[in-house]
Amino acid sequence: MTFQAPKGTFDWLPPRSERVLAVREALVAPVRRAGYGYIETPTFEDTALFVRGVGESTDVVSKEMYTFTDKGGRSITLRPEGTAPVVRAVLQHGLHNGQLPVKLWYSGSQFRYERAQKGRYRHFSQVGAEALGAEDPALDAELILLAADGFAALGLTGVRLLLNTLGCKECRPAYRAALQEFLRALDLDEPTRARIEINPLRVLDDKRPEVQAQLAGAPLVVDHLCEACKAYHEEVRALLAAAGLAYTDDPRLVRGLDYYTRTTFEFVHDGLGSQSAVGGGGRYDGLSEMIGGPALPSVGWALGVDRTILAMEAEGLLEEDGAHQRVQVYGVPLGEEARRRMFQLVAELRRAGLAADMAFGGKGVKGAMKGADRSGARYALILGGRDIEAQAVQLKDLTTAEQTEVPLAEVVDILKGKFS
Ligand code: HAM
Repeated sequence: MTFQAPKGTFDWLPPRSERVLAVREALVAPVRRAGYGYIETPTFEDTALFVRGVGESTDVVSKEMYTFTDKGGRSITLRPEGTAPVVRAVLQHGLHNGQLPVKLWYSGSQFRYERAQKGRYRHFSQVGAEALGAEDPALDAELILLAADGFAALGLTGVRLLLNTLGCKECRPAYRAALQEFLRALDLDEPTRARIEINPLRVLDDKRPEVQAQLAGAPLVVDHLCEACKAYHEEVRALLAAAGLAYTDDPRLVRGLDYYTRTTFEFVHDGLGSQSAVGGGGRYDGLSEMIGGPALPSVGWALGVDRTILAMEAEGLLEEDGAHQRVQVYGVPLGEEARRRMFQLVAELRRAGLAADMAFGGKGVKGAMKGADRSGARYALILGGRDIEAQAVQLKDLTTAEQTEVPLAEVVDILKGKFS
């Protein structure tokens, strides 16, 4: 019997898997330059952290969590997102008692039991950045700009920024009530009517055309903002405009997690079909208090690594994958003694900083040379019994097929010189 990866998951294999590493690195390079420090939290947490932090009425918590009871009887959940764990870690270690904002970035797997389709997986990878403990529109703008810089560094040109604000605990209740009143008068099915009472903002996000058609005149948050929220949002917009970053005001942008206040945003790519968000985030001024901490106004985002790669594919940015170079030098030993000598030589080359591999599995010269070609190496080192006697090795340039004999004692330096 053989196994398949579980539904909604997949494997990254070489050479494309190298892209995953490169994409992660490119997306986090801007935040690292902006003073964000690396944080790594466990892959699983107390279930209650997500129930309280992300919100019981969200799809993520009510339908999509990988929750199990461990052998000690604790309810544990594989993290569906990274923000609640980061806030938990900051509070646990008292990082918020030092200089603020606390700036952190992370990278890792997230787990959501979703309906699997292209761009929507049950195991996926995010990079994220969070700035905790400061209420400053410049911090919101900084993070948005850093995400945009990451996408741009990958060569992506089709990423669009959608921007909204969700108000604060002062102005949101009145808006919520106005929205509920509007929604209750519509012709909606029972589950949707129930949602009006629990989480009316989510109804705005309903994709069904018959629902959307009725939502045309729905009250919008922007029309119900308090003076402070209005001024805050204006400042974020002005900073983004001054930075030359284009955005679209989307007064109906609703996020899938409950902790958001004020600034919310999404980066979307039109080449991805229905799962178009390549990243998203916003301000979460109340999250710390929701999980038992002090007031800690914060803002952050997470970018989807898998979807970013799909977006790059859609823009034709991944087509050179065939040219991927695995090693620079490939050893072809002919015979037992040569195999032992080549084993040492390859180790020396690697210590000298060169990427080197050799033929394994007792291949004949034909099979070994095929391996050399496939490895992407520029040079093959061919070593036979006669070469060892002469303390020499054949250096073959695989692009020109030109072959020269060089002294064994000098070959490392010669190759170093060729690649310097
Ligand atoms: P999110 O919008 O749920 O936000 O996820 C962020 C990004 O992760 C999405 O835009 C998408 O690219 C990717 N993503 C989400 N679900 C999936 C999936 N099932 N398959 C593939 N990719 C997916 C958060 O997670 C928040 N923690 C972001 C944040 C940080 N807000 C404040 N700080």
